[in-house]
Amino acid sequence: MNYRHAFHAGNHADVLKHIVLARLLALLGKKDAPYAYLDSHAGIGLYDLHGDAASRTGEWLQGIARLWAATPRPALVEDYLSVVAALNPNGTLRYYPGSPELARRLSREQDRLQLNEKHPEDGRLLKDNMKADRRVAVHLGEGWHVPRALLPTREKRVLLLIDPPFEQLDEMERCAQSVKEAIGRMRQAVVAVWYPIKDLRQLKRFHQGLEKSGAPKMLRAELYVQSPDSAERLNGSGLAIANPPWGLEEELRELLPWLAQLLAQGESGWRLDWLIEESAG
Ligand SMILES: C[S@@+](CC[C@H](N)C(=O)[O-])C[C@H]1O[C@@H](n2cnc3c(N)ncnc32)[C@H](O)[C@@H]1O
Repeated sequence: MNYRHAFHAGNHADVLKHIVLARLLALLGKKDAPYAYLDSHAGIGLYDLHGDAASRTGEWLQGIARLWAATPRPALVEDYLSVVAALNPNGTLRYYPGSPELARRLSREQDRLQLNEKHPEDGRLLKDNMKADRRVAVHLGEGWHVPRALLPTREKRVLLLIDPPFEQLDEMERCAQSVKEAIGRMRQAVVAVWYPIKDLRQLKRFHQGLEKSGAPKMLRAELYVQSPDSAERLNGSGLAIANPPWGLEEELRELLPWLAQLLAQGESGWRLDWLIEESAG
């Protein structure tokens, strides 16, 4: 477990993931009934962009820094940016929310958060960052066990984010397996899997695995910041979303072209389609 998210916090991949997460939470929040938010690979929740790790890579300068400075911007990014703004009240961009902090701030009193992080030090930091909120439970366990450990939830609605580091060869397979387990335990679960766009042949196999997950429907949203012709670099990223709430597809159709232009580092692009189409029957 060498991966530390602090080096990558706020980069273009985080921006895509976190905007989609904010939209998912906003759409789930349209109904009063509570939902549970589950995060299997949660990280530490809060990042210092001026700290040693983030400063060493400077990745956030091509990510959140561009969004922070962008005018005009679509109303659909305001929820996400309101959390970043709340962490940086003097207007200078320094602190960046991870998925747990975004979910904590964008969820409601009746909602519940179950966060999991395996790295012992990051887990401790996450616990510390979340300790003031009684709606949050932090687990220091194995992320791949989250579907079978925490599903089904007592809430009828659930959003599970699966966001592993993709450092091990089997992680793509494990994502598909986790979606399958989650859907097997709660057919209506919204499951969002983030993934990097590097090796396109590997990615094709990953998508084929997800297609067999048994999800009733699955939306694929991808953002390329440069042409995907080198398997060595992070050319972009995507999210596969099982059971996306109604309205998400339309929102992403507005957001992705704007993000592709704003975050371009070369020949940028985007894709939005259904990996699994809802069957008529
Ligand atoms: C990409 S980061 C998560 C970022 C976070 N979801 C966010 O958006 O702010 C992946 C995290 O997974 C953790 N991790 C790695 N292997 C894990 C495993 N098997 N189970 C749970 N967590 C794991 C890493 O320590 C790291 O913090």
